[in-house]
Order: sequence, then structure tokens, then C-alpha cells
Amino acid sequence: MSIHIAAKKGDIADAVLLPGDPLRAKFVADNFLKDAVQYTNVRNILGYTGTYNGKKVSVQGTGMGIPSISIYANELFREYDVKRAIRIGTAGSINKDIKIRDLVFAMSACTDSGVNNHRFGGRNYAPTASFSLLKTAWDIAVSKGWEPKVGPIVSEDTFYTEEPDDWKLWAKYGCLAVEMESAELYTLAAKYGREALGIMTISDSLVTGESTSSEERQNTFTRMMEVALETAVS
Ligand code: HPA
Repeated sequence: MSIHIAAKKGDIADAVLLPGDPLRAKFVADNFLKDAVQYTNVRNILGYTGTYNGKKVSVQGTGMGIPSISIYANELFREYDVKRAIRIGTAGSINKDIKIRDLVFAMSACTDSGVNNHRFGGRNYAPTASFSLLKTAWDIAVSKGWEPKVGPIVSEDTFYTEEPDDWKLWAKYGCLAVEMESAELYTLAAKYGREALGIMTISDSLVTGESTSSEERQNTFTRMMEVALETAVS
């Protein structure tokens, strides 16, 4: 057992999907995994292991934001020797050509995070996806005709930013969407020599003000789950 995950070594697969929402972890286990077993419910942050296409895979909730995913990613890499970590989450579009429900693969994750600012002593580290996972996910999505968008995203420390137009600077420099976790996942994967990828579904648009319902966020967005699972077991 680690501090925040009530699993024994071996209970968690080498490849793990990481939704922020614990109920999305349950949704993936209930709808996509065979023989899924729940290995943790500490703090109601659920984790399951089952099989997909005959291969062992886990899905672990992370909570929202960099400090929360940092706890789970650290424990998964350090205590459970996880090799592949694929975040599945929602993001807000900051690009006019990226619409709600679009799939976005984060090639890199800029951040305003105090965590990396502190970790690197003010230097600017560039959190980057695993090229191999990104290429695999791209090939899978394209083969299904899903036209994913790939590029830099932003992992912000605050959902409610001090200035509502803060996203415009990131957009000007080519970022596609904002979320709150991938930069830390990529940074920790690099630290531990593991592979990570962030696959996002656009749940709202800061450009147009459109959004999806919380029920849709929790229970749909199944394309990203399928791409992530197929990538995880590839
Ligand atoms: N900001 C930050 N994270 C998000 C957003 C957003 O607008 N939408 C979904 N995740």
C-alpha cells in the first residue's frame, strides 16, 4: 500500500489510464474492462484493474489539478512501477478551430504552475509527451477517422484565473486548450524514465463560451477512452 492508493504491488498494471474524475474511472472499468477489480477507494478516489483486448490495464482517478495528480503519479511510478500513464480528461478550447467534443493530444504542456517553478528554481522546463505513445494514439485515432488535434496545451494552476482573459496569451503562442494536470504528469514521467500522454476531450470553449453538461463529462467522451485503452495495451 502507498499512502493514497490501497493496492498491493502487482494489483496495478504496467499501463494505467488516469482520469481526474474517480467516477470516470468507474465508468471505464464498468464499460470497457473485462473482469475489473477495484483495488482502491481511499478518499473515494477509485482505481480498477481489468483486461482490455486480453491485456492487463488499470484505470486510476487522480483528482483535479497539479498537486492532486502529482500525488497519484508519484505513487504509481515509485511504488507500483507503472511504465505507461495516459491521462484522459477534459479541457477548455482556446483555439477557434477546436470545437467542443474534439479530441486533443497534448504534445507538450506549458504551465503557470508554482510546482514546476519551485522544482526548477525559476528555470523553464518543457513538459513533453512520450513520442511513442503519441504516435501510437495518433495512428489509432486516425485509423478510426477521428481527426485528433495535436499540439501544445496549458496546465493551469487555477480554474478561476485572476484575469478571465489570461488564456489569450497562451493562445497567441499556439496553445490549443487549457486543463490542469498534464504538465505534472509529463514532468514526473520524465523524472522516473516512464512514458506519459495526455488525451483530452474538449468540454468547453473559452473562445465561444459553449460547454457540455457535467453528466456528459462524466459518462460520455468514450472516444478518448477507446484511444487511450488501445494505446495502453499496444
Ligand atoms: N480550464 C481549466 N481546466 C479545464 C477547463 C478550463 O476551462 N475545461 C476543462 N478543464
